[in-house]
Amino acid sequence: MGNSFSSKIGVLLAAAGSAVGLGSIWKFPYTVGENGGGAFIILYIVCSLIFGLPLVMNEFLIGKLSGKSAYGAYRTLSGTGRWQWLSWMNLLSVLAILSFYFVVTGWCFYYMAEAATNSFAGMDAKALEAHFTAFEGKALLMIVYAVIGIVLTASVLWFDVNKGIERLSKILMPLLFLILIFMAIHMIFLDGGTTGLKYLFEPDFSKITSKVILQAMGLSFFTLSVGVGALITYGGYMPQDQNVRGTSLQMIVLVLIVSLLAGMIVFPAVFAYGFSPQEGPELTFVTLPAVFQHMFAPTVTSTAFFALMCVAAITSTISMMEVMVAFFCEATAETKRPLNRHHSVIVVSLILILANILSVLSMTGHANWLSVMGMNLFDSANACVNNILMPIGALGAALFTGWFVPKTRYQGSRVASFIYLVILRWIVPIGIAIIFLDSLNII
Ligand code: PFF
Repeated sequence: MGNSFSSKIGVLLAAAGSAVGLGSIWKFPYTVGENGGGAFIILYIVCSLIFGLPLVMNEFLIGKLSGKSAYGAYRTLSGTGRWQWLSWMNLLSVLAILSFYFVVTGWCFYYMAEAATNSFAGMDAKALEAHFTAFEGKALLMIVYAVIGIVLTASVLWFDVNKGIERLSKILMPLLFLILIFMAIHMIFLDGGTTGLKYLFEPDFSKITSKVILQAMGLSFFTLSVGVGALITYGGYMPQDQNVRGTSLQMIVLVLIVSLLAGMIVFPAVFAYGFSPQEGPELTFVTLPAVFQHMFAPTVTSTAFFALMCVAAITSTISMMEVMVAFFCEATAETKRPLNRHHSVIVVSLILILANILSVLSMTGHANWLSVMGMNLFDSANACVNNILMPIGALGAALFTGWFVPKTRYQGSRVASFIYLVILRWIVPIGIAIIFLDSLNII
């Protein structure tokens, strides 16, 4: 992505491509299921608007003002190395996310192949759960599929084909959207489906605890791609006259709609076909094949759906891997051995292959010693990103612009309003700090 996007709509598409991904289709449903349904969704939406919107704008702005990725942006805008730790944290966060995100991207590829060969035909809930469990035991297969995702993403970055991706996502993203809408409508007419919709939209506020609030905030950051520097990079490619607020708002609305649609498909299926809302990370993967079996042309629709899910995943992994690649290029630029883009893509790919192998081995029980806080690497990276790394990354970025970047740097930009500054200086940091400390029982 050495060059900028071809148009303003290009930046929006790329940002939407980064944001709309497995977070909305995979992580959102099972996290909602684990946290009790409707009340959690309200918290998620509130967090996305109160924290998410200013934070997305903030990251775009940091990128747009500096024209750089996270590493260069913090250095250029601060004029010192004092804020550099934030870009290191971004690097760590993205590495942690990709260590499990590619595993799940691999699941999408596997499910696409299974769907194409009609493997789910006639399977009920128990059989679909058993099918997933059996797959989860096959470390080598999971590694192979995860590596396919890594190689594909690396190829896009290697050949610098963002224009092609832009064109592709102009067609494929709306297609994903259409399939989701079509399926969500189909679910309304399903016997027992309304129980799922009630679960989704009837809030039970007794389910809200401080941990649940932290989960909702983390999920909203995850689905919005906030707090890890990805949007800084895309902000760096923005044309100067791009409206940051409008782009951010459109992106957020899109994410919220896709997440809710995914919920409106998964939960009716949970109740209609006898799954549990607390199924965990496999929730989407066990329920969707059940849905397709009862739809028109199951083989074609399910294959198309999982293919589009792969595309959604890859447009997100591109944005994350780009953070790592740009980091290595920018951080080594002034050293004796600067890494060029291609070298950097190779180094990052190798690191990610290793991280994913470790993640899979610890998940499948082949290497039980690979655990953190009693969890396998997949679960611990997932939890750590959600509850620690993204909130801190977002908090740091807000404090950076709110308190450090001289206002003159962004005067004239439409987002530099008084309210925006108050939100970045006070509301976002205090809000994140309270939620964070409360969930750790510190306050
Ligand atoms: N927002 C992406 C999703 O919901 O799948 C995940 C993600 C992409 C997180 C890019 C962070 C990021 F920088």
